[in-house]
Amino acid sequence: SERTLVLIKPDGVRRGLIGDVVARVERKGLKIVAMDLRTLDAETAKAHYGEHAEKPFFGELVEFITGGPLVAMVLEGPRAVEAFRALAGATDPVKSAPGTIRGDHALEIGENIVHGSDSPESAAREVKLFFPDRF
Ligand code: GTP
Ligand code: MG
Repeated sequence: SERTLVLIKPDGVRRGLIGDVVARVERKGLKIVAMDLRTLDAETAKAHYGEHAEKPFFGELVEFITGGPLVAMVLEGPRAVEAFRALAGATDPVKSAPGTIRGDHALEIGENIVHGSDSPESAAREVKLFFPDRF
């Protein structure tokens, strides 16, 4: 079994999609082992998205992800990282398949509803960043 860090980003919370995302996760059989509604500070946001620090959209990304409450969750299950990425769909919502979270709900890459860790190594780092005293 594996863990992954999932965020329902501020656009997803603002649009009332917490229930939809949680329902898809549960229907798939992934287990929610931690969940918290919070607003990120800039420091945590920059640490979370550190790999994108040099990208032209980094400032926008940090503003967006700190711009309202989000839901952070830790999911557990066999190949949980890949399993959730499949539920989320491609990063660019125009290319993500209908039936996926992004494919069903989003149109713009900067507002794509959810985050899911991209590897077990990233997941370990992100789970520690978001839930330091629980994992
Ligand atoms: P995350 O799960 O959020 O990490 O998405 P991802 O792994 O599918 O994509 P990636 O890590 O490459 O990019 C992180 C996030 O940056 C994306 O989810 C987008 O919200 C945002 N992003 C990526 N490319 C662009 C871009 O060209 N413009 C803007 N505004 N945001 C972008
Ligand atoms: Mg990513």
